[in-house]
Amino acid sequence: MIHVKDLSKVYDNGFKAVSNLSLHVKSGDIYGFLGPNGAGKTTTIRMLNGLIKPTGGEVTIEGTLVKQDEPSVKRKIGVLPESHGYYNWMTGYEYLTFFAELYDVPKEIRTERVINVLEMVGMSEKKNIRIGQYSRGMRQRIGIAKTIVHQPSLIFLDEPTLGLDPQGQKDIQKIILDLNQKQGVTVFITSHLLKEIAEICNRVAIVKKGRLLEEGEISQLLHKYERKIQSPDSSQPVTLEDVFFYVTKEGEQ
Ligand SMILES: Nc1ncnc2c1ncn2[C@@H]1O[C@H](COP(=O)(O)OP(=O)(O)O)[C@@H](O)[C@H]1O
Ligand SMILES: [Mg+2]
Repeated sequence: MIHVKDLSKVYDNGFKAVSNLSLHVKSGDIYGFLGPNGAGKTTTIRMLNGLIKPTGGEVTIEGTLVKQDEPSVKRKIGVLPESHGYYNWMTGYEYLTFFAELYDVPKEIRTERVINVLEMVGMSEKKNIRIGQYSRGMRQRIGIAKTIVHQPSLIFLDEPTLGLDPQGQKDIQKIILDLNQKQGVTVFITSHLLKEIAEICNRVAIVKKGRLLEEGEISQLLHKYERKIQSPDSSQPVTLEDVFFYVTKEGEQ
């Protein structure tokens, strides 16, 4: 579904935020893009969305080359950016209706669609409250509703649980899993939270300093590193966290 080949980004100040990144995301994946702060996650996701221009390499989504000025790909995807300005004066319902219109959801089905996505993110009861009065968790839920209002088959979520309390994090995880399992939406999610990624993703990429250190099915990665990490007498199974610290430490050398 997503093919990334040799993707690089050097910012205007000469800083190389992403170096020769290649990866594949399959239809149906919940693909976790994992790395510490400053690893280049947001830079990468912006290039995948066509929001900023790569300085090298290319991205294709469902066979179409992603370009900054190419709207056709953008209509197929939903994006929840890392920091997003909301229209605080709008109610959740108005906000979603606004985006449904923007994405050309036909007028006859617009109301039904908005009501549907409100339901999916558990915000039906709050739909007539202004966004300015929402908690951070509620804002993130409305943000996710916005990314799916035009029924994209692929969504990008940049640190969707950042700053949420444990319950808020769980709520968002549940929404993501439901979208994937019940609606068949492919999800590309960035996070620095290892546990979260391990809980909801089937595949992961581990990045640091703009470089891809490891990529694959979580189960395969655990298997691959089991011997390298575990001491022979240890009874604890290897976790994604162990793998993460092992490969990011290796990457430093
Ligand atoms: N517009 C920019 N100009 C120069 N450097 C940038 C710019 N945006 C981000 N960076 C730098 O690129 C690196 C990666 O940033 P980012 O992609 O936001 O990482 P992450 O999302 O993984 O925390 C950081 O060191 C950041 O300071
Ligand atoms: Mg980021």
